[in-house]
Parts: sequence; C-alpha cells; structure tokens
Amino acid sequence: MKQKIQVFCLLVLALFQLSNSGSAQQFFKQHPQINPYQYTVVKEQSFQKAAVTSAHPLASMVGAAIMEDGGNAFDAAIAVQFTLAVVFPGAGNIGGGGFLLSRNKEGVLMGIDFREAAPSKAHRDMYLDEKGNPIEGMSKLGASASGVPGSVAGMFSAHPFAKKTMKQLLQPAYELAADGFVITESEARSLNAERKNFIKHSAQASAFSRKEYWKAGDTLYQPELAATILRIQQNGKAGFYEGETAAMIVEEMKNSKGVISLEDLKIYTPKFRNPIEFDYRGYHIISFAPPSSGGILIAQMMQMIAPYPVSVMGANTFESVSLMVEAQRRAYADRAEHMGDPDFWKVPTTTLTSNAYAQERMKNYQPGVAGNSKMIQAGVAKESEETTHFSVIDEAGNMVSVTTTLNGGYGNKTIVGGAGFLLNNEMDDFSIKPGVPNMYGALGGEANSIQPGKRMLSSMTPTLVTKNNQPYINIGTPGGTTIPNQVYEGLVNIIDHNMSLKAAIDAPRFHHQHIPDNINVEADFPEKTINALKEKGYIVNKRYAFGRMDGIMILPNGNRVAAGDKRGDDSVAGY
Ligand code: DON
Repeated sequence: MKQKIQVFCLLVLALFQLSNSGSAQQFFKQHPQINPYQYTVVKEQSFQKAAVTSAHPLASMVGAAIMEDGGNAFDAAIAVQFTLAVVFPGAGNIGGGGFLLSRNKEGVLMGIDFREAAPSKAHRDMYLDEKGNPIEGMSKLGASASGVPGSVAGMFSAHPFAKKTMKQLLQPAYELAADGFVITESEARSLNAERKNFIKHSAQASAFSRKEYWKAGDTLYQPELAATILRIQQNGKAGFYEGETAAMIVEEMKNSKGVISLEDLKIYTPKFRNPIEFDYRGYHIISFAPPSSGGILIAQMMQMIAPYPVSVMGANTFESVSLMVEAQRRAYADRAEHMGDPDFWKVPTTTLTSNAYAQERMKNYQPGVAGNSKMIQAGVAKESEETTHFSVIDEAGNMVSVTTTLNGGYGNKTIVGGAGFLLNNEMDDFSIKPGVPNMYGALGGEANSIQPGKRMLSSMTPTLVTKNNQPYINIGTPGGTTIPNQVYEGLVNIIDHNMSLKAAIDAPRFHHQHIPDNINVEADFPEKTINALKEKGYIVNKRYAFGRMDGIMILPNGNRVAAGDKRGDDSVAGY
C-alpha cells in the first residue's frame, strides 16, 4: 500500500513537471544563492535597502530575492506567505487565514482581513451536545474545526499593490513543494509529534505521514501541495476556491462532520479594514482592527501606562511589570465583553481606543498593589454612534506586516486528501459557549458567538510604528492571546527601555489576560521580580516560551535592521 502511494506520488510529480515545463526549477536555478537543501538561520543583520524576517530561512531568502529582482514589499509578502505554506506547514498556510497590514511609501495605510469565516451551516451551538455541554475536541480537531480558509484570497487582494505576476510569486513555493527542501530539527520534531494526529484526522495518507520518524536533514517532498499551487498558478483564486481543490476540501469534510460547502468557498471574500492608530511617547503606532482584538488591546494598554515613568522603573522590574499587568488585566476584560467581528457585533472601537477611556479604566489602579479580576470587570464602553508572523520593508520604504495562522500547530491536523495542505481549527477562536474557555483560556460571550459568515475574534497583532511620519518599526508574533501582550512589551522595551530590536524581541516575557487571574512568565524571567510579585499577592506561573517575534527597524542612516526571535528557526534576509 505504502509503495503504491509512493509510486503514485512520483507519477503525480512527473506529471506536474511536464505540465509546468519551462518553469520547474526556474526560481532556484536563477537564484543559486538560495539552496533549499542547505541553508542556515540568521538571527540578526543590518541591510542597506530591503529586509524580510520570517519563521523560516528559506521564506525570508525568497522574499529578499523577489525584492532584489525588482519586486516591492507586497510582492515579497505574497511570495513569503506561499513559501511558508510549504516550508513551515505547522503555521504557514493556504488552509488558514490572517491579517496583512501595510503602509506604502506615500504613507497610505491598508489592512486586509483574510480571516477565516464560519461556514453557512455553522450555528451558535454547533459544538455542544444535546445537554448543552461542549463536545470534546470538536472545535479543535478534524474537519468540523475548520473555518472557510482566507489566505489564498487574501494574497490575491494584496496583489494589485505588487509588481510581479501571481504565477511568478507562487513559483518558489511550487518548486519547494515539488522538488523538496531539507527540514530543520524543530520541524522534524513537530512532524513526529503530530504523526498519529495526521493519520487520525485525515481521510488519506499525505506527505507528512511516513513510516520512519523524521530527522533534521531529511528532504520533504509535497507533490500534492505542488499540484494545488500549480492549480492556483494556472487558474488564479479559482484554482483554490473552485474546481478540483474546492471539491477535495468538501470531500474531506465528510471525514469528520465538517460543514464547509462549495458555495462557502466560492463566496469567501477578504475585507479591507481601517487600521487602529494611536500615539505613544511621540511614536505613531498602527495595528490591526477587529476582528482582531490586537490593535485595540495594545492601544488600550500603552495609553494606560503612558502617564507613568516606565523607563525609570526599568525593564521587567516589579514596578514596571505590576503596572503593565494591571493594564493587561483591564484591557483583556474588555476583549471578552466587547470584541468580535465588527460586521456582526458593534465593537465600541472609538471609545475603547480613546485616551480618556484608558485613563478612566486606570482610576482604581494603586501602584504596588495586586489587582483582582473579580473586582475589575469589563468597562462600560458605549459607542457614541502555530500562527506565524513576517515583516517586510523594501527599498522605497513600503512596509508590509503579516500575521497568518492555522490556529493550533498544524491547525485541525487534517491534510486535505489529494490537495496536500492542512486546514485550520480557527472555529475554536469563537466563544463556543459563554464561560467556556477556548484553547488559549480566552472567554467570550455574545460578541464572539458563532454565526454563519462571521469571523472569529483574533489576537493577531501585525504592527507598524512611524516616527516623525517616517517608517520606523514593523513587528509581530504568534502566540494566541499572548500576542497583544508580546507586542506591547516589545514596543515598551524599545521605546521606554531603549533596547535594540533584537534585545527587545529576546527579552523574557510575561502575560496576564484578566482570567485566569495569574501572570505567566517565561523560564528566564528575573527571579527577583517573580518573588516581589508573589509577595504582593500575585499568582505567578513559569511556562514554556511564548511567541516567535519577528521585526525590522529602520535606523537613522536608513539601514534596515532585521531580527528574528531566539525562540524558533526565525531568520532574516535582505540586501
Ligand atoms: O487568531 C488568533 O488569535 C489565534 N488563532 C492565533 C493562534 C496562534 O497564535 C497560535 N500560535 N502560537
């Protein structure tokens, strides 16, 4: 059986190469500096003209090469998104969704929301049994967990701002899927860890499921994914949302009560969202609007701490951490109550992001005293009327910041039979029942309940910073509900504590999300601060590292300093 599958895969591969003749090997032949079979991680480097930081060295190198060939930051971002879908299948994706935030060289801002949507057959109680209790795993694993994917359509929405053809921008991804690439230690480890899940939750065997364990240095070939990419190259968006690929997605739904239909795929449309903007200590910060909670949360938290001398308090000291945690507590209480898809729920964005509201929320803050989430509820905000992040800055100063996800690592663990890509488990980001936490412990209510066509509330926070109206920082990270806190802490590290981009990214992080009422810290968090927080009554838990923050900063001499998080294979490239 296994042999039959292998022979079939080789046949499929040979067929693509014939049908795609003339373009196979084209990109990597023309860019011999990028070797998919031998590459290294570069954590920090300064480039004169353009830079990319992403979760994988090959994706960053592809993005940089696209720009060196005359593409702009939008070209690079599109190529990086598709490349990550091949080389970083745990989070890079075509079966998921995300947010693209950009500021072009003229200063025009744009937000593309390509978040997954609930299928038309989805409904509020779809993950509850007849007694009204959540059905274990149903919103997290298998076809039933998947929202309608948005990534491919999202990239097509960004394409009018790029210079190259979509076919050219998909070519590196096609070649990496068809001709293979060498996997890293961490990729091998996570593929092995998910082996049983892939088999259990997918109707057919895939490139990921083989008998032997994966090890660093093995070559991963994905012929079915290459065929899917080829269909997109040949038929555009319809190569994914209609025809053969769409039929394969719908077929996969039958395996575990999935409800995505051909019509759901056909009608999926990305939406343009006005970004969230606010000022902090002379810097202008731009981030993503609902259905992400990220932009509102960082606007709230940074305005809440602005009146305090954070730089004098010092980084990760008791004084600064307790202040920042009390801001986190208040902002995240509002997340659960007020935030959801703005097309279905009236999010009081203007109020929540106003400085007056931030100061009002902090009125009951007492420096040095541990707060209590039972006392701090959501404010009254009436309106008057294995995710992955990558950053790109090109020579002209266009900045593109993308956070994209399948939600959990490898999403719902379902590889679409015959199409070779993973589906998301984004439905778990909805509130499946008031008071029932999702996989990140986040609570929600009516604002984030399931409705057909609605987009689930996200924490993804692609963020840009300008200084004197000039591009300055492009940053973001994965990590579920920890994302807005990571971005908030990273920016405070740079702006208040004067850290370099790399030091700000690598610094130990802390996280409070209102409920549960505790502070999670990374293992290398200063013990002195942990002890002082505990003495004052905070509950502090050490947990595994969170996030993989990637960013680029423009120095006064115009150089682009790119930095990848120490926490993963994150790597920079540029020229
Ligand atoms: O949209 C969200 O907020 C989540 N689906 C993000 C998931 C994530 O960051 C997982 N990565 N560690």
